[in-house]
Amino acid sequence: PETGTLSIVVLGASGDLAKKKTFPALFNLYRQGFLQPSEVHIFGYARTKISDDELRNRIRGYLIHGKGDSPEHPEAVSKFLQLIKYISGSYDTEEGFRLLDKEIYAHEVSRNSLEGTSRRLFYLALPPSVYPSVCKMIGTCCMNKSDLGGWTRIVVEKPFGKDLETAEKLSTQIGQLFEEQQIYRIDHYLGKELVQNLLVLRFANRFFLPLWNRDNIDNVQIVFREDFGTDGRGGYFDQYGIIRDIIQNHLLQVLCLVAMEKPISLKPEHIRDEKVKVLQSVLEIKDEEVVLGQYEGYTDDETVPDNSNTPTFATVVLRIHNERWEGVPFILKAGKALNSRKAEIRVQFKDVPGDIFKCKKQGRNEFVIRLQPLEAMYMKLTVKQPGLEMHTVQSELDLSYMQRYQGVVIPEACERLILDTIRGDQQHFVRRDELKAAWEIFTPLLHRIDRGELKPSPYKPGSRGPVEADELLEKAGYVQTHGYIWIPPTL
Ligand code: BG6
Repeated sequence: PETGTLSIVVLGASGDLAKKKTFPALFNLYRQGFLQPSEVHIFGYARTKISDDELRNRIRGYLIHGKGDSPEHPEAVSKFLQLIKYISGSYDTEEGFRLLDKEIYAHEVSRNSLEGTSRRLFYLALPPSVYPSVCKMIGTCCMNKSDLGGWTRIVVEKPFGKDLETAEKLSTQIGQLFEEQQIYRIDHYLGKELVQNLLVLRFANRFFLPLWNRDNIDNVQIVFREDFGTDGRGGYFDQYGIIRDIIQNHLLQVLCLVAMEKPISLKPEHIRDEKVKVLQSVLEIKDEEVVLGQYEGYTDDETVPDNSNTPTFATVVLRIHNERWEGVPFILKAGKALNSRKAEIRVQFKDVPGDIFKCKKQGRNEFVIRLQPLEAMYMKLTVKQPGLEMHTVQSELDLSYMQRYQGVVIPEACERLILDTIRGDQQHFVRRDELKAAWEIFTPLLHRIDRGELKPSPYKPGSRGPVEADELLEKAGYVQTHGYIWIPPTL
């Protein structure tokens, strides 16, 4: 591993994202020994004028009830907070960034890093509107200056634009200031344990190799449900909607890993090459394969206009035009204010040809990968019902993580992705051409929605979403299983 000083700068340090996600992720890395106090210093940067202690106190509450609480936890929190220094400044003038650079440099000198490398990681927990100016300031004032090597990297969060044009503009602006190898575009779904498992599952198991294609698979669903609404984020959400918030990024990234061809190696560029190829094979979305919804009460939020056409629910069928997937619908579904909270991939197989048990069957074979909560993979299959009669019943082969990996703490997505950034592994980050291909798929549809040519149907909060979505699912070929429900095992 590399050595030398590591300066982690959280820009937007006083904001919500930093408090709730970035600092807790850094704390968890610290606790597990990935951030060594002898090397690491953390800088918070934002416009608000507060002291180091004020920032620490704001963060503290989000660290106190961490995972795997232990008696030494409060002590670890205090030690971690001491590693944080706060600097206030604006996002578009050099003054604050010069000061920041001075502080980073002082830290590097104090750790004798002039004899070692200097590693500078800038985490932009900021709205994308300020990315270009912040990148410019970092580029002008805060780059790593050590002759002995090291690096400067930036981490950016979505939304990366609102459509193809704005996304490309943003990419060009950032691209003029940083090399692609320095830019880490986070999609936190790529940091989820079961998403990371997809490559292993698909390419390290003989079981799946011959089955994973149009000859055997009838349809694939990638589903995201939340049982709460916009939850105070109405102002942000209304400008984006569920397709930009969830489907174009999180679900599409999952689709890539489910559908892509085998990369020639695990090198990040090889993996990302395959993701781009599959994205480029997606056909234009047809209006009749889209259902939009908006939950009743969505516009009650003061920050949402009364006549908002923004979908809070969408089912979109994607069709991949290649040898493996021709004719197999990939159904992406996401919704807020539904009846449950979960994210899963559901691969439904075709019926058995020449089936002799026809009249008794409850459903098709399905392979379900539950991303959250209660991470699991289970295969729904037909077995003989135990007993004297020859009856069949739907059952499952179940790998539930909570049971199989007792005591193993599954890392938070953000935690893992920050560690990847420090290690310089871009595998789980979105490359510029990948982002472009993703926007190419959805931009025409999004523009039709923005122009009001497609309207969301109302649905009741706490329901399954608009009924039309189930109808579309059926039309796409999904066959619902009756009389069977998977029960997550408990300890
Ligand atoms: C974010 C979206 O990217 O993902 C939110 O902006 C959503 O609207 C969140 O709630 C869901 O993430 P997770 O990890 O809870 O599934």
